Amino acid sequence: MHVSKLDVLQVRNIKSVQLNCHPGANIIYGANGSGKTSLLESIYLLGRGRSFKHRDLRVVVNNDCDELVVAASIERQAPQRSYQLGLKRTVKGHFEARLDGVALQSAVQLVEELPLQLIDAHSFTLLEGGPLQRRQFLDWGVFHVEHEYRSAWRRFQKALKQRNQLLRHGRIDDDSLPVWSAELAMLAEKITDYRRQYLTELIVDVAALASELDCLSGLELDYYQGWSEGLALMEVLEADRARDFASGSTNHGAHKADIRIKLDGVTAADRLSRGQTKLLVYALKLAQATHFRRRMGQSCLFLLDDLPAELDYEHRGQVIDCLNNLDCQYFMTGVDKKDFELLVEGMAHRMFHMEHGVAVEG
Ligand SMILES: Nc1ncnc2c1ncn2[C@@H]1O[C@H](COP(=O)(O)OP(=O)(O)O)[C@@H](O)[C@H]1O
Ligand SMILES: [Mg+2]
Repeated sequence: MHVSKLDVLQVRNIKSVQLNCHPGANIIYGANGSGKTSLLESIYLLGRGRSFKHRDLRVVVNNDCDELVVAASIERQAPQRSYQLGLKRTVKGHFEARLDGVALQSAVQLVEELPLQLIDAHSFTLLEGGPLQRRQFLDWGVFHVEHEYRSAWRRFQKALKQRNQLLRHGRIDDDSLPVWSAELAMLAEKITDYRRQYLTELIVDVAALASELDCLSGLELDYYQGWSEGLALMEVLEADRARDFASGSTNHGAHKADIRIKLDGVTAADRLSRGQTKLLVYALKLAQATHFRRRMGQSCLFLLDDLPAELDYEHRGQVIDCLNNLDCQYFMTGVDKKDFELLVEGMAHRMFHMEHGVAVEG
């Protein structure tokens, strides 16, 4: 799938930008502060309903305006389908997303219509940061390939919220606590099965890509389910009831899961240089795109912020080869045009020069 036309209005320093995008490589170059990351942020907003830079979308709306709009014409293969996706967010908090003019019920539908991956200067936190980033990584993959997963995940979040509310405001012997615990445990086991299955499939692609980017061997992705292996979650919840009451939250479950990423048995983040960590992040995300393509019969989009600053020349070339082989559309940014010229020589692409929030092709 790819975005053929992109319209961005009033996102950060961008007042109005229209791009006729290339189905493969799109390069956005320009000085610091010209609006390159903001352009990627706009595409990300359309595919996720949120920003990767700030939780509060008010700061993303251009200072002189009271709303932002991002819209795209999207072309999908297998089956062939063209559609318009658009969203609007006002500074007052009104959020609206539309698919071919029809309002979408939630941002989750945006994720479905525009599957995308972002790699930027913060992506190393996938290895070095907390479990949340790794759960989000995992959930991106399972969410797209397993339709059942979405409803299990939503119901799990609801049960968790209800149980936590009871823990905070109820009595320890409240009759409804075991009911919510049972619901939570049942859904957590389901989520765990999906996640494990997904990781089993993904590891093959990760290993292949890690060796293609010649970074690493002996890679293992171990899933920690969020409670002790071999125990039923219901038993753990029962045993931990007093502790959960004391903390006012559920201390075990699928919301505490993690992927333990190791190299020859050692935690990867403890062993790798920052540069190698970045390569492994590329391998992990490209592996997801490979798996996604195999399962869904189409490619996802990649947003690569400041690629020349992230990778050495040789690895940039390898990443681009991978993206081309996967038929991915990608938007990559950098300061200097010349950093890209050699990289995309002999390859169809489109270049845009960004200056003071305005993009011009060329
Ligand atoms: N809400 C906003 N309204 C107007 N300008 C903004 C807003 N938020 C950030 N900016 C400005 O937008 C510019 C573009 O930033 P950015 O996209 O990160 O540039 P680049 O990636 O090209 O270095 C910065 O100068 C920043 O100060
Ligand atoms: Mg930037």
